[in-house]
Amino acid sequence: MEISNYFKGLKNLFFERFIEGNREEENIFEKKDLVNILSPGRINIIGEHTDYNSGLSINTAINKYIFITGYGNKTNSVEVFSKHLNDSKKFLLDDISFDKNTYWINYIKGVLKEYIKHGHKISGFNMVVDSNLPIGAGISSSASLEVGVAKFVEELFNLKVNKRETVEYSNSAENNFVGVNCGFMDQFAVVYGKENYVIYLNFKDLSYEYIPFDLDGNRILIINTKEERNLADTKYNERRNECNDAVKLISRIVKNKNIKSLSDVSLDLLYKLENKMDEKLFRRVKHVITENKRVLLAKEYLLKGDIEKIGQLLFESHKSLRYDYEVSTEKLDYLVDEMSKIKGVYGGRLMGAGFGGSVISLVKKGEVGSITDIIGDKFLKKFNVSPEFIECSFSDGTRRVKFKDI
Ligand code: GLA
Repeated sequence: MEISNYFKGLKNLFFERFIEGNREEENIFEKKDLVNILSPGRINIIGEHTDYNSGLSINTAINKYIFITGYGNKTNSVEVFSKHLNDSKKFLLDDISFDKNTYWINYIKGVLKEYIKHGHKISGFNMVVDSNLPIGAGISSSASLEVGVAKFVEELFNLKVNKRETVEYSNSAENNFVGVNCGFMDQFAVVYGKENYVIYLNFKDLSYEYIPFDLDGNRILIINTKEERNLADTKYNERRNECNDAVKLISRIVKNKNIKSLSDVSLDLLYKLENKMDEKLFRRVKHVITENKRVLLAKEYLLKGDIEKIGQLLFESHKSLRYDYEVSTEKLDYLVDEMSKIKGVYGGRLMGAGFGGSVISLVKKGEVGSITDIIGDKFLKKFNVSPEFIECSFSDGTRRVKFKDI
């Protein structure tokens, strides 16, 4: 479905739910544009579990979106209707508290709380939301919603906020309100995405470069295992703690206070310390260091347009995530193993936190049909589930869109 059609649907819904029969409001909205926000999901080409280790990754926004339409209501209350979840919620701006029963509303509440905390003037509004971003597939529907809401209030209330602050506020909402201790990657990609480019990002200082990635004869194919990620948050935090422990241990052994993150540790140094460390911790650190190296190589290959070599790096990244970082699952491994046997597949690996979710793969455009047939059949036979295939391209970051004709 066309993007403008989603917004057409949302506009009708907005009028139906919030305006119809209210003469005064109808007049206001005839004169004013509703605020329409288009907020993408994200992919990570390579560089997994590096963001909270001040490392590197190559990521960007994709052409699957959350759509938001709304306007101010001149009160102190916020009312949101989610079309794709068929659920609605209302709350007061001076009483924003965590909702244990309706998880999705917390992303919105958390963002508003951040803006208020930073002194931005926000009053009530009504909003309708729709999406064609699969939830729980590891393509960051949560960051997409957070940044979408952030952009919505920035536009509606004319707030002076720069892109970097939008990333920080949205990330803080997820860390401090929703309670998921994620790094900066998801919100950054959603804010900074650019059509036809990927973002080479250094998490040490959030410095970045856009690198052109011509998908001409090739495609990015996401394969969603549809695997529940119940333990994801706790295991994710467990990995973060292991990394923190490793930093403390290494800086203590080598008596170097300049080692502030695992990205400050070289592979040589790690091997020298091998017998002074727990074997599991050693592997965790090895993943982070080698993954950073793979990102650097991937950047080089991207600039040369060497897709075969980038594909190989994806397979290597998966191996490292599987054996060293241990965030893979049987289904993710099966997908990557089977993909590696098929003609037209350059490479693939689990994407995002792991423990379920999706595989990202780089494939030849002309082979997409046969790849999805083969993998779809095999996966169904083995696990009794049909995986979801999502073909995507690179998109601009979250933005306001205006339509003359809807
Ligand atoms: C999740 C988090 C990100 C990042 C990835 C792993 O997607 O939200 O911040 O840590 O896992 O690379």
